[in-house]
Amino acid sequence: MFTHQSVLLNETIEGVCPNDRLDGVFVDGTFGRGGHANALLSRLSANARLIVIDQDPQAIEVALALAQSDSRVTVVHAGFGLMLESLSQLGITAVDGVMLDLGVSSPQIDDGARGFSFMRDGPLDMRMNTTQGQTAAEWLAEAEVEEIKGVIKRYGEERFALQIAKAIVARRATNPINTTLELAGVVASTVRTREKGQHPATRTFQAIRIHVNRELEELDLALEATLTLLKTGANMAVISFHSLEDRVVKQFMAAAARPEAALARLPIRESELPQPVLTQLKRVLTSDSEINTNTRARSAVLRIATRTATELPEKGAKQFLPHAFRAVERQTLKHSSSKHSTLKRVR
Ligand SMILES: C[S@@+](CC[C@H](N)C(=O)[O-])C[C@H]1O[C@@H](n2cnc3c(N)ncnc32)[C@H](O)[C@@H]1O
Repeated sequence: MFTHQSVLLNETIEGVCPNDRLDGVFVDGTFGRGGHANALLSRLSANARLIVIDQDPQAIEVALALAQSDSRVTVVHAGFGLMLESLSQLGITAVDGVMLDLGVSSPQIDDGARGFSFMRDGPLDMRMNTTQGQTAAEWLAEAEVEEIKGVIKRYGEERFALQIAKAIVARRATNPINTTLELAGVVASTVRTREKGQHPATRTFQAIRIHVNRELEELDLALEATLTLLKTGANMAVISFHSLEDRVVKQFMAAAARPEAALARLPIRESELPQPVLTQLKRVLTSDSEINTNTRARSAVLRIATRTATELPEKGAKQFLPHAFRAVERQTLKHSSSKHSTLKRVR
């Protein structure tokens, strides 16, 4: 039996559910084994609702059992990137809080058969949703060197991405890479310098997992959906485990809290500046005592923000996603070099 020890449990629950919303509608976008969901349920009133989402069929089995014993719970088996659509099918268009505990669960890593771990032998799968999509082995069997390199570099921030990609393609020409230990072996024989305390395949496995599960695309969609759904005064709480995710969450919240920043170089009247749609941004890290009892908590970063009463801009919450926000900034830079000099510059 594989278990999951929830990270930053009290901090997340207090963050997502203030005392004045105990009757509300909440979303747990990453049910896992229900640690956060159960803690939230114990705080909520009998009239509240909790929609729990996960894309992993094993997590969904646990969620369905919970829903049997607690009528406040509704289960959705889908990617959290489909949150808007899934909730709309339930007739829900606004919520009182959303929590996301990103990445993989301990049961997914600890069960060798899921193919996430370079320490345990198993089929090279790595899909969180085992009912759809390409496995890691299927992808590695056909992707070009450049594509493999790009994924390992971008999502693993791995220095030896090109060498690893070439080694994978050379190896598969004679023997397909079908198991986790086969892939770990190919990477270990290519990356000879180890980072302290890290297996040489750590970065490559992280990168392929992010690619196979489209994790950053899903995160973009979930952030956009969350901001669209939150009622005034409602909170979002997001736990990230690596810098790629945390950067997106941080920049998204910052852009929504300071929408005027994208227009900073544009001469524009102060009264016309866009107003914040998120406020009270908070960052919470794990304490030493939590890390001592759960080493997987060591890289966790929880970010919490509160929805303001300001309406979303015409283009919607999407415009606060880091790449979109930077595009607006670039656009305004172009504009600002043209002549609108009668208007006041903001910065
Ligand atoms: C860190 S675990 C969550 C643990 C949970 N908070 C608990 O206390 O038991 C992450 C969970 O999110 C799920 N997950 C990750 N990405 C997802 C996505 N895009 N859509 C739906 N579920 C996702 C995984 O399948 C996994 O079960």
